Amino acid sequence: MRKQIVAGNWKMNNDLAETEMFLVDLKKQVIPEKVEVMIAPSFTNLNHAFKSLREHPVEVIAQNMHQSQNGAFTGEVSAAMLKSVGVNTVILGHSERREYFNEDNATLAEKVNTAHDNEMRVIFCVGESLEDRKNGNYFKFVEKQLSEGLFHVSEETWKDIVIAYEPIWAIGTGETASPEQVQEMHQYIRKTIAENYSQQIAQEVSILYGGSVKPDNAKEIFGQPDVDGGLIGGASLKVNSFMEIINSFQ
Ligand code: PGA
Repeated sequence: MRKQIVAGNWKMNNDLAETEMFLVDLKKQVIPEKVEVMIAPSFTNLNHAFKSLREHPVEVIAQNMHQSQNGAFTGEVSAAMLKSVGVNTVILGHSERREYFNEDNATLAEKVNTAHDNEMRVIFCVGESLEDRKNGNYFKFVEKQLSEGLFHVSEETWKDIVIAYEPIWAIGTGETASPEQVQEMHQYIRKTIAENYSQQIAQEVSILYGGSVKPDNAKEIFGQPDVDGGLIGGASLKVNSFMEIINSFQ
């Protein structure tokens, strides 16, 4: 059975005081047992959040990491550093990283390898721009991101991979992909994994949708057969809306 997952990507939001307030509120909530819930605070608040949630089912994850083990990379954070503060899962290839920090598929392939070498789980993000959506190139675009960034991994690595489909035109814009558009792409991604690996791996990998998921659209999106949850930006910053989304699985 595939895991149902809701991960909150805080991006560059929530300082220490705001993080503390969120955590106090979060710990009052009942997390449904069948859903794996994660939050991704900024690097500076990871250890605080990890310690605060030590006895709690919500996992603290990172938004990014560098591909090298260590060295002269001013401003960067390594996998070992993340692990040393309690983080075992990392989001890689978010479209904001690809766009603003020039992370290409080759760099992401290296990051995936580094995560694997450090026994970390990866949420690997893919998704097309509005231009590629409009010109009908979106399947090809996503397939290229997968084949160049991820499809070099061994079969055994797939137990530590989650995919997030996040069309760029739906991120932070208030414009959500329709449930049909989401299902169509998720099904396509699963088919592509089956072709490159096996039907079993394709059926077992969780594929999340991200892009303006809100309490009022989560149920319909999560209800699609190939959607296993969401990567949530804006609506994960408040405990109320985050919890409503977490409780949206049927
Ligand atoms: P959004 O962000 O929910 O604010 O659209 C999603 C994401 O970028 O992960």
